[in-house]
Amino acid sequence: MLYEVPALAIFIFLGAPDEDAVLVKQLGSSRAIVNWGKPSDAEQVELMKDMGRHWDFTKKLVDDAMANPGDNYLGDMVRIYKEDPSRFTVNYLYNVMFLMQFAGHETTTQASANGLRAMLSDRKQWEALCEDPSLAANAVEEILRYDTSIFTWRRIATKDTQIAGTDIPEGAKILLLLGSGNRDEEMFPNGETFDIHRNNAKRNLGLGLGAHFCMGAPLARMEMRVILEELSRRLPSLRLVEGQDWRFIPTLAFRGVQELHVEWDT
Ligand code: HEM
Repeated sequence: MLYEVPALAIFIFLGAPDEDAVLVKQLGSSRAIVNWGKPSDAEQVELMKDMGRHWDFTKKLVDDAMANPGDNYLGDMVRIYKEDPSRFTVNYLYNVMFLMQFAGHETTTQASANGLRAMLSDRKQWEALCEDPSLAANAVEEILRYDTSIFTWRRIATKDTQIAGTDIPEGAKILLLLGSGNRDEEMFPNGETFDIHRNNAKRNLGLGLGAHFCMGAPLARMEMRVILEELSRRLPSLRLVEGQDWRFIPTLAFRGVQELHVEWDT
């Protein structure tokens, strides 16, 4: 469910066919590893073939929409382009769609899986949610704080500056430790503790901050909230299968369990 549903949701918005969702998930996983992982030379060759397949898929999606724009985000972008082609190029549109088909679901899949794991690892949190579903929205914020799916991100300094006494020269490559900031004790007392009642959980950095704040934040928050609401309502006995071997996707930026096994009473 956590694997497929976020992709199906973004596909409706983007205007891509449902039946391609699983293929795009597979290609997206390769993309995370080729861009942010440390694949061997031989692995890189295979992963790049997936990148190529994903690019071709995206190109066809855009080209089809150019001929026949639908009632969706891509259709709107095509109409804007046709009104005034000087606004952006078709290549720009390929790239936007290439990004959105990744940013729009891998992140939500991973954050939901990390979150469900955290909720079920501390039974008290799960039971509190089952008793009071209105806690779901704050639980989402706490998940984005405690175990977000993008725990580092990058920047290039546009000018010389200083942060907390450290000189940062223009052009420096910076790795933002969002996951670390999310557990900063000055901002979040007992930051290592997962607590869906935390009153400032919304100040998390899970969706970024500032000019590049996540464009899909409302969608991601809504999807994660609905997932929690529906699972706690329909399957209150949900629990983690014991003895699972937690494996995480091997990248420097994305954090997500590769598998999450649960069971419940029928
Ligand atoms: C839980 C799910 C999500 C997480 C954790 C997440 C996280 C982030 C973060 C940390 C950034 C900031 C990057 C930066 O500062 O440069 C970002 C940007 C972005 N996100 Fe998300 N995201 C999520 C879901 C989504 C969804 C559902 C969409 C699409 C509908 C999306 C589209 C984008 C885009 C297009 C940007 C770039 C914004 C810009 O550079 O102006 N994200 N996201």
